[in-house]
Amino acid sequence: MSKTLSHVSIVVPDLEAAIETMRTVHGLTSGPIAENKQQGVRLAYIDLGNSKIELMQPLNPDSPVGRFLAKNPRGGMHHVCFGVDEVAAETDGLKQKGLRVLGDGKPAYNVHGQQIAFVHPADFFGALLELEQKSADPAAVSGIHHGS
Ligand code: CO
Repeated sequence: MSKTLSHVSIVVPDLEAAIETMRTVHGLTSGPIAENKQQGVRLAYIDLGNSKIELMQPLNPDSPVGRFLAKNPRGGMHHVCFGVDEVAAETDGLKQKGLRVLGDGKPAYNVHGQQIAFVHPADFFGALLELEQKSADPAAVSGIHHGS
């Protein structure tokens, strides 16, 4: 079992403006914009080689990310994400150690069809922690729209 830093996620009020700033100020090119209706976000990744920055904008104000933006209107750091071999095994192990895993227990997926889960910030030094399975399940990608 090895872990990697998959990405750091930042919520932004205007995804296109953030992508443009990343390009013009930092010289970093974003991948395509995708939508994840299950998570209530539109997002883009900036690949840094050994990890990524995830830029997220809420699709609606009632989503968890929408509520985060309401509290932080200029945006802000949202979560860090570990890449793990198996999300289910990892969350089972963390639950046995008393950590709180968020959600209704049903598997959740990112826009690449990789299974994901979130650990309560109170159980990870005050920061929201995402776990992302390194391998993707292509069947889980259906229902997720690529492009804007
Ligand atoms: Co993420």
